[in-house]
Amino acid sequence: MSHSRSSFHCLIGNNPIALETFDPHLTLLDFLRLEKNLTGTKEGCAEGDCGACTVLVGRLREGEVEYQAVNACIAPLASADGTQILTVEHISVPKPHPVQQKIAEHHGSQCGFCTPGIVMSLVGLHEACADGRAVADPTSINDALAGNLCRCTGYTPIIAAAMAACKTPRPPQSESLRQSAESILPTWEQAHTHLELQTQNGGYFAPKNLRRLWEIKTNFPNAQLVAGATDVGLWVNKAHQTFTQIVDINHIEELRKIERRASCLTIGASVTLAEGLKPMAEISSDLDVLLRRFGSAQVRSKATFGGNIANGSPIGDLAPALIALNATLRLANPSGKRDLDLENFFIDYGQQDLGPDEVVESISIPLPSAAHFYCWKISKRFDQDISALSGAFAFNISDGIISSARIVFGGMASTPSRAIECEKALVDQPVSPDTFSTAAAALDGDFSPISDMRASATYRTLAARGLLQKCMQRLENRNPGSLYSFPAEVNDLA
Ligand SMILES: Cc1cc2nc3c(=O)[nH]c(=O)nc-3n(C[C@H](O)[C@H](O)[C@H](O)COP(=O)(O)OP(=O)(O)OC[C@H]3O[C@@H](n4cnc5c(N)ncnc54)[C@H](O)[C@@H]3O)c2cc1C
Ligand code: FES
Ligand code: FES
Repeated sequence: MSHSRSSFHCLIGNNPIALETFDPHLTLLDFLRLEKNLTGTKEGCAEGDCGACTVLVGRLREGEVEYQAVNACIAPLASADGTQILTVEHISVPKPHPVQQKIAEHHGSQCGFCTPGIVMSLVGLHEACADGRAVADPTSINDALAGNLCRCTGYTPIIAAAMAACKTPRPPQSESLRQSAESILPTWEQAHTHLELQTQNGGYFAPKNLRRLWEIKTNFPNAQLVAGATDVGLWVNKAHQTFTQIVDINHIEELRKIERRASCLTIGASVTLAEGLKPMAEISSDLDVLLRRFGSAQVRSKATFGGNIANGSPIGDLAPALIALNATLRLANPSGKRDLDLENFFIDYGQQDLGPDEVVESISIPLPSAAHFYCWKISKRFDQDISALSGAFAFNISDGIISSARIVFGGMASTPSRAIECEKALVDQPVSPDTFSTAAAALDGDFSPISDMRASATYRTLAARGLLQKCMQRLENRNPGSLYSFPAEVNDLA
C-alpha cells in the first residue's frame, strides 16, 4: 500500500532536497542550472540529441545504487523523485575524476559545451565497470558516447581516455556519493509513498499501481500520461505545450514487470529500453544491435517500450521487429483488460486502437520465435538517429521450402506494416535467387513510400529491396557481409 506525498525529494550530490511546489513542466536541467547554479551541465539542443546536458541519475536496484546517464534537458524534474542526481561538479571534487584526468592526459578535452556531458557519460560507464555491469571495450565505449555529439569530431583521444580511465578503481569522492545514496534512498523507498504534487501550474502524479491510476484518470480524464518523456519532453521544450495534470506512469508496478516463460516473453509498458535490452537480445542478436542503436544510452535509460508503441510512430524502431515476432499487446482500462495483435494496433497515421481511458500494460512475444529472424535499421547517421526505414523478417523453413514468412517495414507507409504480397510470394517456395526476384517485385507493390527529410521514396523502395535481398542471402547461407561495421581505428583500440 502506497500513500501519497505532496513533497518532492531527491539527493543532489550528497544533499537531500525537498520541494513542496514547482512547475511540473520544469526540467531537471533548468532546475540544476537556474535554481542550483550547477552550470557545468550545459544546454545544447534541448531535445535529447547532443548530450551536453548529461547527468547521472542513481536509483536503487536490489539495494545498490545504479547510475544511468540521462538527458536532463527533456527529463521533468519531478521524474527524478527519490533518486540521486550527479553533475560534473559533484564528481570532480576534491580532485578531478579519473575520467577527467585521463581525458586531459590523452588530449581529449574539447569545447566547454560538449566536454562536461562527455565526462558524465564516461563516468556512467566507469561506474558500470566498477560495479561489474560493463567492461570497457570499443562497443561499450561507443555505446556510452553515442549520445554525445561533437561537431568538431576528435573522438579518438576521448575513446583512448575512456579505455584508460575505466581500468582505474572508483575514486573516494564517488564512493562517498554512493554511500550517501545507499543510506538515504532506501529510507525513501521503504516509506512506501508516491508523489502527488498539486501546484498553481498543475499537478504531477506518480502512482504506484493501476488502481490509483484509474482514480486519478477519473478525476482528471484529460491528464497527460508520461513515461520516459523522450517524446513528451520535446513537446514541452519545442512546441511549448503545457498540461494541467501530468501522470507519470513509470512507477506502476503492473507496468514494470519483465516475465520470461517457456511460451512467451512479456515486457511491461514502463520498462525502459535499457532494462529490456538483455531479454530482447536473448531472442536475437539482431535485436541487440537494433536496441543499441535506439537513440543513445541517455535516451534508452528513460524511453519505454510502451511509449515507443503508444506514440504510433511509423518510424518507431520496436514495432516492425515486434510485429514480425508476432507480438501481442495487453491494454488495460478501469473495466478490465484486452489483448490485441500488435499489427492491428496501428490503424492509420496518428491513429491507434487505444481508448481514451486505456493504457498499454505490456507487450508479449511468443516463444520460441521463428527459426530465422533478422532486423535492420537504416538511418543517415549510425548512432543516435531516427530510422529512414527499418525492416524485420521472420521465417520458418522446412526441407528448404519457406513454410512461413512475416515481413514488416517501418518508414514505408503511414504505420509500421507487413509486406503481405511479398510474404505470399515467399511462402511454399524454395530459398533461391528466383524466389527472391519474384518476392522483390511483389514487395514493390506492397508500398508507396513518401519522400521526406529522412529519405526519398525511391531510396526507401530500393533500400527495402536491399534488406530483402540481404535476408535471402542469409537464408541461402551466403554471407552478405555486415550491414554495420565499426571504423578500423575504433577496433584497433581494443
Ligand atoms: C534524442 C532522441 C532519440 C530517439 N531515438 C529513437 C530511436 O532511435 N528509435 C525510436 O523508435 N525512437 C526514438 N526516439 C523517440 C522516443 O525516444 C521513443 O519513441 C520512446 O520509446 C518513447 O517512449 P517514452 O517512454 O519516452 O514516451 P513518452 O514521451 O513518455 O510518451 C510518448 C507518448 O506515449 C504515451 N504513452 C507512453 N506510455 C504509454 C502507455 N503505457 N500507455 C499508453 N500511452 C502511453 C504518452 O502519453 C505519450 O503520448 C528518440 C527520441 C529522442 C529524443
Ligand atoms: S541539451 Fe542536447 S541533449 Fe540535452
Ligand atoms: S567538443 Fe564541442 S563541438 Fe566538438
